[in-house]
Amino acid sequence: MASKGLEGVIAAETAISEVNGERGRLIYGGYLIEDLAEHACFEEVCHLLWYGELPTEAQLQSLRARLFEGAAVPEPVLELVRRSPRGTHPMASLRTAVSALAAYDPDAEDIGQAANDRKAVRLTAQTVTLTAAIERLRNGRAPIAPRADLGLAGNLLHMLSGEAPEPLQERIIDAALTLHAEHGMNASTFAARVTAGTLSDMHSAMTSAIGTLKGQLHGGANEQVMRMLLAIGTPDRAEAYVHEALGRGEKIMGFGHRVYRTLDPRAPLLKKLAEQLNRERGDAPWLQISETIQRVMAEVMERKGKQVYPNVDFFSASVYYTLGIPLDLFTNLFACARMAGWTAHVIEQLQDNRLIRPGSRYVGPGDRKVVPIAQRA
Ligand SMILES: CC(C)(COP(=O)(O)OP(=O)(O)OC[C@H]1O[C@@H](n2cnc3c(N)ncnc32)[C@H](O)[C@@H]1OP(=O)(O)O)[C@@H](O)C(=O)NCCC(=O)NCCS
Repeated sequence: MASKGLEGVIAAETAISEVNGERGRLIYGGYLIEDLAEHACFEEVCHLLWYGELPTEAQLQSLRARLFEGAAVPEPVLELVRRSPRGTHPMASLRTAVSALAAYDPDAEDIGQAANDRKAVRLTAQTVTLTAAIERLRNGRAPIAPRADLGLAGNLLHMLSGEAPEPLQERIIDAALTLHAEHGMNASTFAARVTAGTLSDMHSAMTSAIGTLKGQLHGGANEQVMRMLLAIGTPDRAEAYVHEALGRGEKIMGFGHRVYRTLDPRAPLLKKLAEQLNRERGDAPWLQISETIQRVMAEVMERKGKQVYPNVDFFSASVYYTLGIPLDLFTNLFACARMAGWTAHVIEQLQDNRLIRPGSRYVGPGDRKVVPIAQRA
């Protein structure tokens, strides 16, 4: 029997992260996500994912310097983005741009560990630069260069707005990057490992991963969550909206997960960030609407005996929106974070590579003979 959607299939052994669906635990290299989100910055998490250990202060400074050096995006790639037709989705622009970066990367065709380490750093920093540049260029504004004194979270905000990031905003984006950096054998990471497993190159693997993250059942869900919150508009309409959508057989975006049979541990952490923002920013209705949806979904799913809980995308949407990030850019922020995890997985895949090539069970017609075209009905 085929396992539809490869559910339950163990596709690789990994030391990068563990997703424990029964206990609702997420661990990067032995550290609980709650601990990392509170006590480490995103660059420390990158170091952990790439090199297996949290950095010393000196190692962190060195990584920060390498990320800054690697953050520049060659002008022809920016020109490619600039020339994209109006209305190109920012994830489509990112996918094309990351693919194009290979042409300007001196290590493009080298899939050795040292070159892949360098590309992991560059691609992670360049994805942040590109995400901000895509947003500015589609609005007819010039891209802004990163600042050496800011980390990736601060630079993302700075390169989007041109202004110095507020400390709370920077802290929230930094925590969101940590929470999205890595997640076991999720669909986009699997895509990256499949591509790398053919001994293709890092940029090709990242292009596969970005295309896979873009879908609304995966990273694209955060944009759809915000569209739902906007369509609901006010808290009093949330309950009816959920019942009507479920009645039509629709899924509620930001709920459900292939692995978690309980609450996704990232959801309450993101909810806390949303609450923090709400206290600062006042009266946006998104959190209240989200809480009502969460309550109604819990009641419905309990009645139906289904284990469907909020996932990472449910609260990240209102966090990003409250920070003024355009909703169709949400998934690009996810990609900025996951680039660290994807590249770590490619490096791990190549340390003990075997072509990833599952089988399929043929269910089409039996033996047939070709009838000459003139005689076909
Ligand atoms: C994430 C997701 C794709 C996982 O899919 P999956 O493991 O294949 O699970 P299924 O779609 O088979 O769902 C299992 C059951 O729960 C229900 N379910 C799952 N997610 C649901 C949701 N968001 N809203 C309502 N019902 C949901 C399904 O209808 C299904 O019910 P059934 O057994 O009666 O058919 C799925 O939960 C989903 O589409 N969620 C919405 C998109 C989203 O938020 N994605 C981000 C994931 S981090």
